[in-house]
Amino acid sequence: PQDIYINLVLSYTDLAPDGYTRKVWTANGQYPGPLIHCNRGDRLIINVTNNFEDPTTIHWHGIFQLGSNWYDGVGGQTQCPILPGTSFVYNYTVGDQVGTYWWHSHYLAQYVDGLRGPLIVNDPDDPYLGQYDYEYVLTLEDWYHQLAEDLVAMRLAPGYSAFNPVPDAGLISGRGQYNCSRADSGAKCDPNNMPAIYTVTKGKKYRFRIINMSAEAFFWFSIDGHKLTVIEVDGVAVKSIELSVLPIHIGQRFSVIVDASKDVGSYWIRADIPEDCIFNSPETINANSDLDNNNNITGILRYDGAPNDLPNSKKFNDAWSNNLFPCQDLDISLIKPYEPVSPPQKVTDQFNISVTLGPDKKNTTKAYINGQSWAPDLTNPSIMKIMEEKINATKFPVNANAYMYDSEGGAVEIVIYNQNGAEHPFHLHGHNFFIIGMGSSGSPDVSQYNLIDPPLRDTITLPGSGWAVIRYLINNPGVWAFHCHIEWHVELGMVFQLIEMQSKIQELTLPPSVEALCKPGYQNTKRLA
Ligand code: C2O
Ligand code: CU
Repeated sequence: PQDIYINLVLSYTDLAPDGYTRKVWTANGQYPGPLIHCNRGDRLIINVTNNFEDPTTIHWHGIFQLGSNWYDGVGGQTQCPILPGTSFVYNYTVGDQVGTYWWHSHYLAQYVDGLRGPLIVNDPDDPYLGQYDYEYVLTLEDWYHQLAEDLVAMRLAPGYSAFNPVPDAGLISGRGQYNCSRADSGAKCDPNNMPAIYTVTKGKKYRFRIINMSAEAFFWFSIDGHKLTVIEVDGVAVKSIELSVLPIHIGQRFSVIVDASKDVGSYWIRADIPEDCIFNSPETINANSDLDNNNNITGILRYDGAPNDLPNSKKFNDAWSNNLFPCQDLDISLIKPYEPVSPPQKVTDQFNISVTLGPDKKNTTKAYINGQSWAPDLTNPSIMKIMEEKINATKFPVNANAYMYDSEGGAVEIVIYNQNGAEHPFHLHGHNFFIIGMGSSGSPDVSQYNLIDPPLRDTITLPGSGWAVIRYLINNPGVWAFHCHIEWHVELGMVFQLIEMQSKIQELTLPPSVEALCKPGYQNTKRLA
């Protein structure tokens, strides 16, 4: 294992990922942010220099932070934000984890403005090595032209319905084609922006690592004429699954093998947003959106030797044959870990959570988990409360939604009830989990649980008005966020805190640099919240 040093210098940069120029929150001036690449077991030492006028934090989505909860990057839970004009070093090992991850700001809705990028942990013993020749990273993102803070203000305005802001466009690997005739006059917009083009050589096989880094959008991903052989799901190698269309919600990742065995030519790469997943919002809430009549976001797969023409390939129309439902996960019965692992058969801590959305007293829409809506405490994050105040389990936390469990070596079972009609992609920090049951109606039936070979994921889409049951081992002391990854729902409070091994957390010492982030003086900072 090696120590890998990385610098992320954050600044505002004018960029036009979809042809429309806007101020983008970038790392090293790039969008998407730089690829972080390492091998299994490596230590990442990432120096973040904040040249924004806003505070920030960075989260490493899917990395467990075993024993290093304070580098998990959740503003208000695991750290105070990094102030403008200062630097902070995240320093953690990826341990035994391998596969496809990403990193993003976890400070307010900042990642929607661009602060996000891929993180890949190469596995020297990958079971699929030798079954592909090259690998590519491919990210999917919805894209807004307005600043996230304005969109949040709009979302939180009293009386503002149950609808999320509608993106203006979509991007594949940071590139898209906005219809400039929809832009407001005065906007700088290039109608001929190039899409992402992936070149392949006939006869070769390609591993595509696909990451949905969106704020709002669920996608059906496909490449015309080419089947996708899924080999990895959220960092876990799986027995191969052949699909024509891959469902992917926010925060989820897949590796697929694509066999470049078709006629030399160009083929559309597609990220389609099924209508119901986003367009239940009245279009009037974003008259500039290019997605209302064209929800197909495209890139190009081009064979070496093919002319530079646009593809005229046809899209697969067998989506339903793969058990696909709009806005829902790939059927859990299809996902089998490559190395069978059995889930905990007994649980030491079992609890239910229920997810709702509804108006608060000011008629602002809020999200609730067990009746509580989360708001970050940016000057006194949960980890500090637990470490310093030694608050006991029954008291912690005040006015925040949380559950505590302390049985080291035991197992947690969470039964999640979605009392809202929409789907929510829930992501757990600090762990991945076995999905032992899931349903879009009724309630969990213990006799139907899969306790033999359930999938392991770190992001699960709760079906609308449905439920899910997950289990995982208690082995990682810390405060772990469990939240819907639709960023607008985070802002409405759809975040839960899991406080794992409170007594162990209290034996740990925060690194001085983490402690220093919470020094007084800080509260006066501009735009802290
Ligand atoms: Cu992508 Cu709380 O994370
Ligand atoms: Cu949600």
